[in-house]
Amino acid sequence: MSSPSLLLDTISHGRKENPLLGAPPLFSYVFLGISAANDLILLNCGSAEDGIDADNRKWYGDSSSKFLLSSSGSSQEKAEFQDPSLPSEVPYMSARVLTREATYRFPATPGNRYWVRLHFYPSSYGGRNESDSFFSVASDGITLLRNFSAAITAKALTLAYIMREFSLSPIHDSIHLTFAPSDKHSASYAFINGIETMYRLNVGGQFIPPTNDSGLARAWYDDSPYLFGAGIGVTFSEKAQIRYPRTVPKYIAPTDVYNTARSMGPDSNINSNYNLTWVFQVDANFTYVVRFHFCELEMIKINQRVFDIYLNNQTAEQMADVIGWSKFKDVPVYKDYAVYVSDLLDDDELWVALHPSSETGPEYLDSILNGLEIFKLSDTSGNLAGSNPEPSQMLIAGGSAGEDDTSSSKTRSNVIGGAAGGVAAFSLVALCIAVYQRQKRGIDSDFNARPSWLPVYGGSNSRSGARKSITSTRSYASNLSSLAVSLCRHFSFSEIKQGTRNFNESRVIGVGGFGKVYRGVIDGGTKVAIKRANPSSEQGVHEFQTEIEMLSKLRHRHLVSLIGYCDDGEEMILVYDYMANGTLREHLYESNNPPLSWNQRLEICVGAARGLHYLHTGAKYTIIHRDVKTTNILVDERWVAKVSDFGLSKTGPSLNQTHVSTVVKGSFGYLDPEYFRRQQLTDKSDVYSFGVVLFEVLCARPALNPSLPKEQVSLADWALNCHRQGTLQDIIDPFLNGKIKPECFNKFADTAVKCLADHGIDRPTMGDVLWNLEFALQLQERQDSNPVEHGGAASDS
Ligand SMILES: *[C@@H]1O[C@H](CO)[C@@H](O)[C@H](O)[C@H]1NC(C)=O
Ligand SMILES: *[C@@H]1O[C@H](CO)[C@@H](O)[C@H](O)[C@H]1NC(C)=O
Repeated sequence: MSSPSLLLDTISHGRKENPLLGAPPLFSYVFLGISAANDLILLNCGSAEDGIDADNRKWYGDSSSKFLLSSSGSSQEKAEFQDPSLPSEVPYMSARVLTREATYRFPATPGNRYWVRLHFYPSSYGGRNESDSFFSVASDGITLLRNFSAAITAKALTLAYIMREFSLSPIHDSIHLTFAPSDKHSASYAFINGIETMYRLNVGGQFIPPTNDSGLARAWYDDSPYLFGAGIGVTFSEKAQIRYPRTVPKYIAPTDVYNTARSMGPDSNINSNYNLTWVFQVDANFTYVVRFHFCELEMIKINQRVFDIYLNNQTAEQMADVIGWSKFKDVPVYKDYAVYVSDLLDDDELWVALHPSSETGPEYLDSILNGLEIFKLSDTSGNLAGSNPEPSQMLIAGGSAGEDDTSSSKTRSNVIGGAAGGVAAFSLVALCIAVYQRQKRGIDSDFNARPSWLPVYGGSNSRSGARKSITSTRSYASNLSSLAVSLCRHFSFSEIKQGTRNFNESRVIGVGGFGKVYRGVIDGGTKVAIKRANPSSEQGVHEFQTEIEMLSKLRHRHLVSLIGYCDDGEEMILVYDYMANGTLREHLYESNNPPLSWNQRLEICVGAARGLHYLHTGAKYTIIHRDVKTTNILVDERWVAKVSDFGLSKTGPSLNQTHVSTVVKGSFGYLDPEYFRRQQLTDKSDVYSFGVVLFEVLCARPALNPSLPKEQVSLADWALNCHRQGTLQDIIDPFLNGKIKPECFNKFADTAVKCLADHGIDRPTMGDVLWNLEFALQLQERQDSNPVEHGGAASDS
């Protein structure tokens, strides 16, 4: 069979109704292309002209295209605003605005599988309000998107543009994509089968950009953030010539996927005692197809490396032997397995585990994996669509600048399932579509069939992994380890009351998501900060325990020291060293404090970087702070910076494994876009947030300021944009004008920009950041013939 490929790329925009005009719903798309061969044709919707995108690909205007079945009731519009994070004008700046159902039709070969990517750039087109646009997309009976709002989704993700990818297997010789404005009477669609790509990983290898994919412009991500537990195996690679058999067309996965692999390690004893495990966050109540890509790079005979494959505790395959399947080394093979993820049993997680099998007496006890893809299948009503994510309260309210601590705990819970920061997550305008011809061997390879072992569980109504951590213990510290208890002093409630004059309001020095912070005195004279949890904050229980566990074991010049705690009755109270100069933020903006000199700012940044570097590498476990921001960097009376607030911290299980699977938490404006995309935390998420802090220090403005023009709201996006344009100098704190040595400025800006790289792998480590900031400080001081500028900062080393 030939392998035609269909590419669909869409930009969409629309509106539900215009209360002023009383107009019917509007929406628009930019579509993509199609081809009978393997090349891609991209359709730029709402345009009469062809155009070239940032990757030099040609997009055809759709207005005269044969793919759009009818253009009546539609108009071509230009976006009114070009977001600086758009990679190019084409295809985003134009859109077709539709006022009634419209269909695109692409030729296809029945039984082949096609990937469809829809790209959306919500913006104002032709004076219409983007947030009024809701629409559904269906393809030959499958609902791909239902009542979808590109504007709400993009806003919740704080992305300028978004992409959705689907895989379709037409029964007839064409694929129809029908876009319908949502209204109460919109047609409901029957079902067949649709697939949405959730994860695509190059196991044991590095990020593969779309430009290096085998013609289909997919991004393949590093698998390490998804690994679970301490046993993460070893990675290896080979420059071998990968030989694709007839059963594995080249577009299935590029050679870079098969050239690298992860195995369990050289020691059979160790291997037989652990599972090589990956964990993925998914939507419950859907069936997923997990595609395993294998290519043996070391073994040459059968029964050398034999292993079992588990999906969510179910055996998917016993005695898998890659050479047994592929016959030869360097020959790829892939296998598909389906699994239903139940709300009740699986907690929104999909676990993939490999374990050596000893049954056949293989030469090694080991397992191997080269690549992994996870696809979501439509449910029994033909639906793939989830609901629109909920934007944070703060964004909705357009509220006060800066993520406010007072509201953060509420905000956080609303964020779960869809928050993010920074530039567009899908930074590539890739679009294309590929045809997957299904592998016809074996029941496990049948993409469309339900394998016999597929578990089907009853439903449940309990949901949310996040809530699981909430305990119902009465004494909130009763779960503490004995080590933490021994390192940390216990205070009685009466001691605390005395020390704060019965929580006198005049002693409040801060209000956080956790509760209020009071200035206090203990032992007849020692100044302390006393943080008292709001007893109604259930979220706080976990954070309370986390903070005691973490801080009691950590002592470092640049970390705030925990002196003790009080857990009498319902109380959750933490007692810290007192930081006379408060938070870094209150010395940057929106306060009456005199501005800090550049040297002081640099020294504070160096100190905070050193504290974070210690968290990441200095302790027994890697600790990811998870909520790095200028209100969590405190300064003592000698201007020494101390990192505080570990309530959200997570430990990585080992030094090698610095990521944790988790729901998205943190503060808006500082969130790592990759953390959001993958809901996986790494130490590089802290590096990203720290990059935002560096720009805050340089520009003296909040990370998010909704009152500014749209392109300036996010400091990270705005600073990166200005840096690209060479105008960063224009947005710095006016107080610093002429006071930063150019070499120092360049070094500092360069470091901050690198921290904000879209992919964690491209960001420096905290150690590199520290080194660069120290160097920047030297560059500043080296030529600093005027010591007056050097404020009272304590030099810390
Ligand atoms: C590996 O995973 C399977 C399936 O979840 C489980 O039954 C088995 O106990 C695990 N083995 C180890 C060593 O963790
Ligand atoms: C999953 O299905 C169960 C039972 O039908 C339902 O109670 C639950 O809310 C569903 N969960 C999600 C996430 O849709």
